[in-house]
Amino acid sequence: MITKPTIDRIMEATDIVEVIGEFVQLKKRGANYIGLSPFANERTPSFTVSPAKGIFKDFSTGKGGSAITFLMELEKFTYPEALKWLAKKYSIEVEETVESSENKEEDNRRESLMIVSGFAAKYFHETMLETDEGKNIGLSYFKERGFNNDTIKKFELGYSPDQWEAFTGEALKQGYQQEFLVDSGLSVKRDNGSLYDRYRGRVMFPIHSFTGRVIAFGGRTLKSDKNVPKYVNSPESDIYHKSNVLYGLYFAKKAIREEDNCYLVEGYADVLSVHQAGIENVVASSGTSLTAEQIRLIGRFTKNITILYDGDAAGIKASLRGLDMILEAGLNVKVVLFPDGHDPDSYVQKFGTNAFKKHVDDNKKDFILFKTGILLKEAGNDPIKKSEVIREIVESIAKIPDSIKASVFIKECSYILQIDERALLTELNKMRQAKAKKDHHNQQTPRQQQMPDEPHFFDEPIVEATKDESSQEKEIIRLLLLYGNKMIDWDGIANTYIGPFMIAELSDVEFEDATCKQFIEIYRQEVENGVLPEEQHFIHHRDKGIVDLVVNLIATKYTLSENWYEMHKIMVPDEQANMKATILGAIFHLKKQKVGKILEGLRKELQTTPAEADQEILLNQYMHMKKVEKTISDYLGSVILK
Ligand code: GTP
Ligand code: MN
Repeated sequence: MITKPTIDRIMEATDIVEVIGEFVQLKKRGANYIGLSPFANERTPSFTVSPAKGIFKDFSTGKGGSAITFLMELEKFTYPEALKWLAKKYSIEVEETVESSENKEEDNRRESLMIVSGFAAKYFHETMLETDEGKNIGLSYFKERGFNNDTIKKFELGYSPDQWEAFTGEALKQGYQQEFLVDSGLSVKRDNGSLYDRYRGRVMFPIHSFTGRVIAFGGRTLKSDKNVPKYVNSPESDIYHKSNVLYGLYFAKKAIREEDNCYLVEGYADVLSVHQAGIENVVASSGTSLTAEQIRLIGRFTKNITILYDGDAAGIKASLRGLDMILEAGLNVKVVLFPDGHDPDSYVQKFGTNAFKKHVDDNKKDFILFKTGILLKEAGNDPIKKSEVIREIVESIAKIPDSIKASVFIKECSYILQIDERALLTELNKMRQAKAKKDHHNQQTPRQQQMPDEPHFFDEPIVEATKDESSQEKEIIRLLLLYGNKMIDWDGIANTYIGPFMIAELSDVEFEDATCKQFIEIYRQEVENGVLPEEQHFIHHRDKGIVDLVVNLIATKYTLSENWYEMHKIMVPDEQANMKATILGAIFHLKKQKVGKILEGLRKELQTTPAEADQEILLNQYMHMKKVEKTISDYLGSVILK
């Protein structure tokens, strides 16, 4: 875990305007900054950053929070990932505590694997730039392929010497442990226990996780010998799962979001050349056929995928079926073919950026229509084959969740296939029904693996409280945030801080809403530690639910709007003048509500309990609670709400 002092240092250094400014163009407006929401397509800016409070609020999507939440939302970082990103930005050394639980051991293992991979990337990169062999063989190869220094540096391309132990020897000398060298796949163990380099005489492509850490490598041979595999890739490890990694995603994320489209290519070289040409929203599935996880990964950033194929027809046909998966995920798929003998890499290197863009624009086809065209051509005039094609196309269309989009495709395909639209629709409905039945059936058994890679903060069970109840609870929290550290004067009898007073008053109240309950628990603990927690404490809390709750309570359109001070003057003094009424009112309204709920429970129990003795007990409880309710009502009526 990252230590508290480190977190504090990161928080201190973090300038929210600077951080968000890296992703969103911000303009100063009064005390705040505004810009276009990075989470939605909007023309008038509704995205507001308040440097004074250290928060942002996006009024078009309702998202809001600290710089950390922002990174978690936009970059899909986990909390520690966001902290580390900020630490890197502000050159803060990250201290982590070593904990002994199994999880921590697992984390440490992964961390060690990443550290050794990072070291290897640096070693290969420097070897290429600084040794004679590296320069003559590796660097000159990349130069010949048209990669410039910026690209080589950005993607940390490298070279591994043509020796058995060059890398492994250096790594061991520097103290890296055998275990991690082997498990990361960088070194291979001989029968006698000694290690040798997996990559020898190859140019190296580090593979980055989507937070930018090196987790694996692809190594390309420079020999034309057909018996040597062209690429050697890292084996699966605790940090590298082929199926949920896309080569280049770390460098493409920003552009994918901005362009609202992701280009998907096949190879490392394609990513590098297209990226270098200034088209940065490009990733590769690197040899494997696209997986559901990879699609989900892209889907976090855009709903539009454009697949760029080289002209090899056999390869295309093989991949057609797999692409239905993308449709199922609700993404829009377009396909572009390159002329025979060209792949995106060779095309853009030869003809340049503009010609490449033009080719893509002129040739992009919706996947369904593309597929229809290919299959139809293959079927020729054979009626049986043709009916197969129809079936297959309708099957693809049936996977599109958006039924309006599906019906547009039906129309277009009926034209291409020369078939009555109604016939296609009938077929489509049949498939839909079959699918619905199947889904229904599947739901009988618990669905286990749903969204395995969603960030953990969604895992918290959220107990749905009745709306009214949770709004009472939220009112309490709003008051704690606003006035918790202020004093209240009880008619000259005593002065107390409002926060601890409220917490004590509420000690017998069980909060229903899970996040509100958690908030109160945190507040209580801080108070017990002798601290009056401030707004900032919650804004920077690691739990996203808490941050959301708090930001939603303190950042309303009014408090963040330009005339905030005007509003402030008007609204808040009212509340302050009646401070006692406000505080006690909130507490007792909530209590009354809780009592009402208990009464309702007792009533129900009374109706269903047959035994007379039990009835008697319940009735007693009921009468007692009735009295409590009356006391509270009287109090609310007479004392507070004059
Ligand atoms: P160049 O030939 O240098 O242009 O490389 P490329 O990246 O264009 O490779 P290619 O189009 O031949 O293959 C596409 C991708 O498939 C590569 O980037 C690799 O990820 C993967 N691949 C190709 N050949 C091999 C191989 O022999 N072994 C493995 N494991 N993967 C390969
Ligand atoms: Mn290629």
